[in-house]
Amino acid sequence: MAGQIIDGVAAARKVRAELKTRVETLKRRGVQPGLAAVLVGDSPASQLYVRNKSRACDEVGLHAEVHRFPADVGERAVLECIRELNANPRIHGILVQLPLPRHFDTQTVVQAVAVDKDVDGFNWCNLGALLGGTCRFAPCTPSGVMRLLDENSIAIAGTNAVVVGRSVIVGRPMAMMLLARDATVSICTSKTRNLDEYTRLADILVVATGRPGLITAPMVKAGAAVIDVGITRTAEGRFAGDIDFDGVRGKAAYLTPVPGGVGPMTVAMLLANTVKAAERFASAAVPR
Ligand code: GUN
Repeated sequence: MAGQIIDGVAAARKVRAELKTRVETLKRRGVQPGLAAVLVGDSPASQLYVRNKSRACDEVGLHAEVHRFPADVGERAVLECIRELNANPRIHGILVQLPLPRHFDTQTVVQAVAVDKDVDGFNWCNLGALLGGTCRFAPCTPSGVMRLLDENSIAIAGTNAVVVGRSVIVGRPMAMMLLARDATVSICTSKTRNLDEYTRLADILVVATGRPGLITAPMVKAGAAVIDVGITRTAEGRFAGDIDFDGVRGKAAYLTPVPGGVGPMTVAMLLANTVKAAERFASAAVPR
C-alpha cells in the first residue's frame, strides 16, 4: 500500500489560521508584529523566498519590510542596517536571507541580529539553548518538521530517528529536537560510510542534503516516516527533493512531497517565531 503523503500546504494553512487569532489579540493591545528581511544580491531563489515570506506576513496580518542591498555592498552597511532594525520597536523579527555573497563573513552578519529578534533561530544563544531544551526561537525548518510529525500523530519517543545532513540550520537542530522528544538519533553526513545501513534502521528519516534522489526505496525501512527537506531546481526547471518519491512511496508509511511538504512549514514557523517575539515584546513581564 502506498504511504500517506504529508500535506505541508494544509498544515501550514492551519498554523497561519492559529497565528491570525494571536495577531488580532496583539493588535488589540496596540502591537502589530513586524518582520524585517535583509536581502543582499539578486539571486532569484533568495528573492522568491523573501517574496513568499512577505506574502505570508500579509496574509496573517504581520507588518513586513525588505531591506535590499546590491551584491557588492560592504559588510558594514548591512551591519548598520541590522543595528537599526535591532533598535526599531516596530520590528520584532529580523532575518538575513542566506546565502550571502562570498565576500561576507556570514556569521558576523547573522550573529549581529539581536537574540530577542532572531526569528530564524540562528544566533548562537538560541542554537545553544536548544542543547539545554530551553529554546526561545528554534530554527524554522526543523520546527516545521516537528510540527508535521505531530500533526500526523507520528510517534517520536523511543523511535530510531536518522537525520542525513549536519548543517547548522537544519541537520543539527533537527537532531536536538528529536532527541529532546526521546528519539534515539543518528546524524549522517555526506561522508558516512554505508549510509543505507543507518537509513534502513530509521523509523523517522529526515533528509537534508540537497542531493536529488539520494534516498531510494531499498534504503528505507518499511513503515517509516520519511521527511524530505531537500529542494533543488533541476536543469528542466522543476523542483527535486533528496528522496526518490515514487519509489519510496511504496515502502514508507508517511512521506513529504517536494514541493508542498516541508517548505510551506518553514515559512509558517518563521511567522510563528515572529508572533512569539511580538508577544514577548508586548508582555510587561519580559525584561528587554
Ligand atoms: N536560506 C535558506 N534557508 C534559509 C532560512 O531558513 N533562513 C534564511 N534566513 N535563509 C535561508
